[in-house]
Amino acid sequence: MSFDLVFFGGTGDLTWRKLMPALFQAFRHGKLPENGRILAVARDEMPDERYREWLQERFREVEEGKRPTDEEFERFASLVHYRRMDLSQPDHYSRLKDWLGERNADTAVLYLATSPHLFTQICEQLGAAGLNGPKVRVVLEKPLGHDLASAQQINRVVRSVFDETQAFRIDHYLGKPSVQNLMALRFGNALFEPLWRRESISNIQITLAESLGVGTRGPFYDGTGALRDMIQNHALQLLTMIAMEAPSSNDADAIRDEKLKVLRALKPFTPETVSRDVVRGQYRAGTADGKSVPGYLEEGKVPPGSHTETFVALRTEVQNWRWAGVPFYLRTGKRLAARDAQIVINFRPVPHPIFPGGSCPNRLIIKLQPEDGLELQLMAVKGGSSTEALSPVSLDLDFDKAFAADRVGAYERLLLDAIAGRLNLFVRSDEQEQAWRWVEPILNYWKNDSTGPRNYVAGTWGPPAASALVARDGHSWIEEC
Ligand code: BG6
Repeated sequence: MSFDLVFFGGTGDLTWRKLMPALFQAFRHGKLPENGRILAVARDEMPDERYREWLQERFREVEEGKRPTDEEFERFASLVHYRRMDLSQPDHYSRLKDWLGERNADTAVLYLATSPHLFTQICEQLGAAGLNGPKVRVVLEKPLGHDLASAQQINRVVRSVFDETQAFRIDHYLGKPSVQNLMALRFGNALFEPLWRRESISNIQITLAESLGVGTRGPFYDGTGALRDMIQNHALQLLTMIAMEAPSSNDADAIRDEKLKVLRALKPFTPETVSRDVVRGQYRAGTADGKSVPGYLEEGKVPPGSHTETFVALRTEVQNWRWAGVPFYLRTGKRLAARDAQIVINFRPVPHPIFPGGSCPNRLIIKLQPEDGLELQLMAVKGGSSTEALSPVSLDLDFDKAFAADRVGAYERLLLDAIAGRLNLFVRSDEQEQAWRWVEPILNYWKNDSTGPRNYVAGTWGPPAASALVARDGHSWIEEC
């Protein structure tokens, strides 16, 4: 199969840091179909050689083990081309069309790794130039809009130019191996499904914690905040995978139909429930990874007195027969105590304890990062005496160790899927809009709430109110118990 892959925003951070290194991994693993061309387009004028030199320099920053040798780089770079393109100029799209027409590959994947405010313009121009035929796929990087109306506007334009089956909306969390394993765990094993419901599960916690601050992304981040940056997309996508019913097949739309039903069943927020069930925070100076770090307001280019949240914790429910009354707690934040992304399924306690000291409820932890695995916490007796108290013990599965040779990173997986035309791990427009519809009452409430976010010290687990939110139901976050 031949392919052309075009990166709009070809000199941007995402292309350098994530996309090109991921493509290189696919190339190294022999997974990239042969007969491919990769084209970066951006505003600067430069020959292919100069772009390749830049790429080689940037690859030196890639973590060891994933860095190409000189010989590997030469082979990979021979696939990479560069063209100047002014995205407002129709004749530049005609030139792109000519370039693609030279080979007329089996598929042309157009990856919009630009600022999202350019998406509608680019799509309209692609349509006008006739670059929307059935072989074309368009990949849209997040953030797709900053509220429901802007997301709908982008989707309207995308739909007027492309068929929904040509639109690949990225949520890179869906490409993480442990997220795919969540589907395998639930629907490739019969073991957990009978327990996967309100009768056996007391609460579910999704944590997407980062120890990094906003760094140099201050101006972008300040207009975005943690709710838009992580909850509207990554956290809600994980929630849908946890809560969805079994799809009738492994087809993209069968899966996405079920995910959409979950989003529609989420308990809608009202001003009263936002004030009670959502905690927003902003970090102050503290210590991260053993070093003193500044607070959010001291980060470069953050406006003085900004109310942008760098932390969110919230409680919601999925209002259907399977999940009625089970709290789903979601939290995310920058400059937290650790880089840690995981989903914790807390099971109900035994109905009648017979062992001395009682027993802790079972818990299944789906680990996304830093390591990628599954941990099942059980109770056992250490010495075998029947009068002994129980001790917690874990069944631990490290996917990296178990499947080391076959592990594929998130962007690598998603790029390969886009080239192959597999939509399973991409977000459909109705899912994305429903997620915006659900978060919008929170955004509206905050707009009119002059109290602003609560402070937390960098290097902690967020404002104490986040613990109180969970404690109110008699539960606690995983690190607290
Ligand atoms: C991105 C957010 O979508 O995800 C970033 O915009 C965040 O703010 C990143 O740092 C986290 O991704 P990962 O894969 O490092 O957990």
